Amino acid sequence: MPVTRREAVAERLLRSSVTHSYDPAVDIDWDAPLVDGLWGIPQHRSTLYGTALWDGLTEQQRRTLTIHEVCAVARMGLWFEIILMQMLLRYAYDRDPRRLHVQYALTEIADECRHSIMFAKMTERCGVPDYAPRPMTHQLGRLFKTIGAGPTMFAGALIVEEVLDQFQRESMRDETVQPLIRMVNKIHVTEEARHVRYAREELVRIMPEVNGAQRAAAQWFAARVAFVVARNLVHADVYASVGIDPRVGHAAALANPEWQETLRWSARKVVPFLREQGIIGGPTEVLWRKAHLV
Ligand SMILES: [Fe+2]
Ligand SMILES: [Fe+2]
Repeated sequence: MPVTRREAVAERLLRSSVTHSYDPAVDIDWDAPLVDGLWGIPQHRSTLYGTALWDGLTEQQRRTLTIHEVCAVARMGLWFEIILMQMLLRYAYDRDPRRLHVQYALTEIADECRHSIMFAKMTERCGVPDYAPRPMTHQLGRLFKTIGAGPTMFAGALIVEEVLDQFQRESMRDETVQPLIRMVNKIHVTEEARHVRYAREELVRIMPEVNGAQRAAAQWFAARVAFVVARNLVHADVYASVGIDPRVGHAAALANPEWQETLRWSARKVVPFLREQGIIGGPTEVLWRKAHLV
């Protein structure tokens, strides 16, 4: 088999997966107690930071809220990882398993499987409820994981992976954040860097071959995914943990200019790339703007 660029990239990713992977079951001390006085995310990334509601909270309540927020973001990540695992499995089902890029797709499924368990254990450890997506989002995810393929699959993966990456990369270096959460972030950032590389490579390869209808479909699905992810990144019920009505807290977060700025900050790497690939653009761009991602 001739060595194509696609296979050469897959080979590097597979090699790095062997040398730079974690097993959260052994690499994280799940019995270590949470540390008093530390946060779930850096406080300036809280959805309420800078609002009147934030000012009304005690320091302890603010810390509690950020623990619930980081678990809610992880739950959104977990939701999408299960979607992505199914899409990648369907992708591998149709392809020659001797090809390295197919073996990499299988490796990515194994990574995501460990991540989902890791996020679930983190939530349990933090004593936080299961912030499962709302029924409508749950059903949209079912549709996406059943039919998502090609540019739609890779663009969807990049949106979620790159947005989460920005939060986690900052957080893993922040000493105000709980050590257990920093370690979860570090593991995820390390392994996701390969997923991002893989999905970007595939998109660059696929996009010149798609026709107008496929491009329009990819734009529509990507905008939908981006909107749903941005709107649901932090579950409305987190506010109940500090005595704020979920509807009031959620509305305050959506209207919070600091949070809107944080969303744009989180998308600042993936947006120019998707624009270059023709995935952002056209009539669906309005959704990206409504989601405060551009
Ligand atoms: Fe992951
Ligand atoms: Fe991933």
